[in-house]
Amino acid sequence: MSTKKKIFIFFFVFTLISFGLFSSANVHAGGELGKLANGEGKWGKFWKPIEMYRWWDPEHYFEADNEVEGTFSDTDCITCHKLTTPGIVIAWKESKHSGALVTCDKCHGNDHQKLFMPTPDTCGTKGCHAKQVKQFKSEKDSGKPAHARAFHPDVVEAGWQISKPQPEVAGCAQCHSIENKCDACHFRHTFKASEARRPETCGYCHNGPDHRDIECYESSAHGVITKIDGDNWDWDKTLKAGNYRSPTCAYCHMYNGTHNAVKNTVYAHMGVEEKDRGAEEYAGKRKAWVNICNDCHSSRFAAAYLRGADETVKVSHAKVREAKAVVEDLHKDGFLEAMPKDLAPFLDAGHKWNLGGRMYNITEIERIWFDMLVYQGTTIFKSAFHMSADMQTYVAAFQQDESLLKIKSEASKLRRIKALEEKAGINHVPYDFWKKGEYTDSLLVIDSPEKTESDHPKGEHPKKESD
Ligand code: HEC
Ligand code: HEC
Ligand code: HEC
Ligand code: HEC
Ligand code: HEC
Ligand code: HEC
Ligand code: HEC
Repeated sequence: MSTKKKIFIFFFVFTLISFGLFSSANVHAGGELGKLANGEGKWGKFWKPIEMYRWWDPEHYFEADNEVEGTFSDTDCITCHKLTTPGIVIAWKESKHSGALVTCDKCHGNDHQKLFMPTPDTCGTKGCHAKQVKQFKSEKDSGKPAHARAFHPDVVEAGWQISKPQPEVAGCAQCHSIENKCDACHFRHTFKASEARRPETCGYCHNGPDHRDIECYESSAHGVITKIDGDNWDWDKTLKAGNYRSPTCAYCHMYNGTHNAVKNTVYAHMGVEEKDRGAEEYAGKRKAWVNICNDCHSSRFAAAYLRGADETVKVSHAKVREAKAVVEDLHKDGFLEAMPKDLAPFLDAGHKWNLGGRMYNITEIERIWFDMLVYQGTTIFKSAFHMSADMQTYVAAFQQDESLLKIKSEASKLRRIKALEEKAGINHVPYDFWKKGEYTDSLLVIDSPEKTESDHPKGEHPKKESD
């Protein structure tokens, strides 16, 4: 850039910023916290969203707040932002949007005091991406989980996470914000389809102990081929038969580019619930899967593989049921290390026992069962259906064996201790630490042991609000 041009931009920006700085400061409608003063949903009165909710759920929380005042043209935005946020302007220039005159203001507005963050509806307006937005929203009809319902039903309404300190569970909102904006797979501001097609993009969220999709995929033949051969691929090609040698996440789940990623999946709480995908009722969905595999395999090979995966999942659920019976008997006999009444009550369930519904504020044997179901069990499902041999057998199935043994050993110890105590006339009162402690005290709970969700109407203050 020439020195003359630089000086011009400096003065242009200086004038605009000073204009903003010397005018009245922006004040939120709802006081200092503005829209962040209360959460949404049925627990809304009880929790406060962290600041990042402004961008993760812009429709409900975003409020412009900066010193720059004025209504600007498309070129003004770019000239000034070249200096304030150069990375964004560079990315935007690389995007198809820059060629199509979709400038900053089209997605954020012209009035700098009334800027907004775009939602899927913004992307669908003026016929721009109406097709993708419609398909994306149609996920809501396919049951859950689904991208289009990831945030409101599954995070905001989940009492078990609302009762945790919000900074601890910030990750929930970050991954689940996929419901609220289209930049989850099309990273801003390039919004490239070629980036969205890559498995690493899905893996940004589909990873970790409860959804090991990327780990399973990467250790499968499909993932390995994508890795060793993918550098030679033209990722600008659409996801169609013949365009790719090995399938990626989007190839299989967004076949032919559909933005409804759940059309063919069988809803099973991530695999926590036992579903026989090979059953007659799902024959149509299974056929659709085999048709996809058929791009590169014989349909006989594919159907046989998927039938094998169905059986693998069934065995894992047999183990889970066996372990469950052991824990349930302990609860029935009152032999858990601490019974639900001895624990801090839950915001949404009070002292009701909820095996598998919680991974915190419970006893060890209940937690082992949770891991067995929600971490190991879902990994077996995901690895079987993603063709990852070691993951399903050594990593998850044999770990489930270990959990089953631990549960039996622990149950045996608890029963023997109880018998000894009875014989010795000891009446053990559970230790206070089950109910109290620096972290435990920070959980949002309801204080009356008898109270449950239904008799705790919105507006009453749980313990934490008065802090
Ligand atoms: C005079 C310079 C200037 C102009 C012109 C300008 N902006 Fe900004 N903009 C800023 C500054 C400064 C910030 C605050 C940046 C920061 O927080 O680091 C900002 C912030 C933003 C943000 C972020 C809001 C947030 O809270 O995350 C967006 C979006 C934005 N501008 C869009 C635009 C658009 C669209 C235009 C044109 C209509 C525009 N800007 C014109 C200087 C400018
Ligand atoms: C096609 C739509 C689109 C265009 C064009 C666009 N943006 Fe954005 N922008 C987005 C989306 C989507 C987000 C993310 C919103 C969120 O996180 O809630 C975003 C977020 C932002 C943010 C806040 C987040 C951050 O990383 O700081 C700034 C600042 C911003 N854009 C500036 C710009 C500027 C400057 C331009 C023009 C060079 C521009 N945008 C053009 C869609 C767009
Ligand atoms: C920004 C995070 C994020 C990205 C990126 C992402 N997902 Fe998801 N995905 C989620 C969340 C969160 C859910 C669960 C939604 C819910 O809670 O109902 C989900 C659910 C799904 C489901 C439905 C699961 C079911 O049980 O039926 C499929 C299939 C899926 N994603 C595939 C993909 C594919 C393929 C990609 C990449 C092209 C991808 N996702 C990218 C976050 C993401
Ligand atoms: C789960 C990941 C994911 C999400 C979320 C997502 N997309 Fe896509 N998008 C993709 C993939 C993958 C492709 C490539 C499809 C193909 O190859 O046919 C794509 C392609 C597109 C294209 C075609 C672009 C081109 O250059 O051909 C548009 C337009 C688009 N998406 C818009 C959207 C809009 C609007 C939203 C928000 C409602 C959205 N996408 C959300 C993954 C996603
Ligand atoms: C070869 C095709 C294929 C590829 C590649 C693939 N998947 Fe899958 N995926 C499946 C099948 C088949 C199922 C089981 C679906 C069913 O019948 O419910 C599944 C299940 C899932 C589920 C759970 C859906 C449910 O039913 O609960 C998610 C989430 C998911 N895959 C995400 C991904 C992600 C993320 C990637 C890439 C890292 C990926 N998949 C790669 C075929 C594939
Ligand atoms: C790394 C990203 C990520 C984080 C962090 C995350 N999730 Fe998810 N979540 C996902 C994905 C991906 C799925 C879909 C998995 C599948 O279907 O197999 C999902 C599924 C779910 C489901 C759907 C369960 C069902 O069966 O209907 C719920 C509820 C959920 N998450 C809540 C939460 C909560 C609450 C938190 C925080 C404590 C959280 N998630 C943290 C990515 C994430
Ligand atoms: C775009 C092409 C493509 C699609 C679609 C595809 N695969 Fe594959 N698959 C391959 C390639 C290539 C290999 C590597 C073959 C080898 O091992 O030599 C492979 C390997 C496999 C393997 C491991 C090889 C073996 O013999 O054990 C299994 C199992 C498998 N695929 C199952 C499936 C299933 C089930 C589907 C559908 C849900 C599917 N594939 C979809 C291309 C594809």
